[in-house]
Amino acid sequence: MTDHRRRALVVGAGYLAGRVGAELSALGHAVTLSSRQPPSTAQARQLDWRPVDARDRRSVHALLDAARPDAVVVAHGPSDITWCEANPGQAAAAHLGGARHLAEALDGRRALLISTDNVFDGHRTSYGEHDPTGPANAYGRAKLAAEETLLAGRDALVLRVSLVYGWDRAGLRPNFFSACAQQLGAGRPVAVPDDHWNSPYWSTTSPPGPPPCWTPRTPEWCTWAARGG
Ligand SMILES: NC(=O)c1ccc[n+]([C@@H]2O[C@H](COP(=O)([O-])OP(=O)(O)OC[C@H]3O[C@@H](n4cnc5c(N)ncnc54)[C@H](OP(=O)(O)O)[C@@H]3O)[C@@H](O)[C@H]2O)c1
Repeated sequence: MTDHRRRALVVGAGYLAGRVGAELSALGHAVTLSSRQPPSTAQARQLDWRPVDARDRRSVHALLDAARPDAVVVAHGPSDITWCEANPGQAAAAHLGGARHLAEALDGRRALLISTDNVFDGHRTSYGEHDPTGPANAYGRAKLAAEETLLAGRDALVLRVSLVYGWDRAGLRPNFFSACAQQLGAGRPVAVPDDHWNSPYWSTTSPPGPPPCWTPRTPEWCTWAARGG
């Protein structure tokens, strides 16, 4: 029987990719996640998966040839800011390199890049679409370069989200919230920095519409310590 569902390819198979993939699947789309290793979160493991290394041009082209998506969501790592700062070349290879290979292979198909508020300088509590960018770290520079590459094509959309959090029931990929819950539930104290500010964003919140480059305005920023309290 012919499958008439629209095909969505998600590059990445981690926390965000799993959430986006599950939402798209619930909307009736045929979803394929992709990454170097099979997914580890319970949500992502329920979806179709194909291997890809975004840094490798041939691997990206082969993925698009095999998956034949109608649209692509770009949500792969690395997402660890400290790691990216220590490995700026590798961060750029994954984000900018991946965006270049995808831009080449898209062939007119729409792409959504999950980007970050790290493309801004971090001196203010909130930013909008028209504020100037000025990344203060290697992760932000790599993501901004990826944005520019994909937006140079006709059909790209960039979503600049801040720190996304949610409940990973199986705990396969603990985030700040689930790690706090697990530690406190076991009666253990949690050490949390109070000099790192962020604007947390609940992963089930839906964006209001389809602008070309959207920066969700999170309520206010707070420290990890305030969020944990
Ligand atoms: N989580 C947030 O709060 C947040 C906020 C704003 C933006 N974002 C963006 O969303 C993206 C995903 O974040 P996340 O929290 O879901 O990260 P994550 O859970 O660490 O997942 C990253 C995923 O990317 C894959 N990956 C890493 N390098 C790759 C490569 N070279 N080729 C293909 N896949 C690769 C990883 O699998 P393998 O290692 O097996 O390849 C993994 O599946 C990040 O790049 C980040 O810019 C996240």
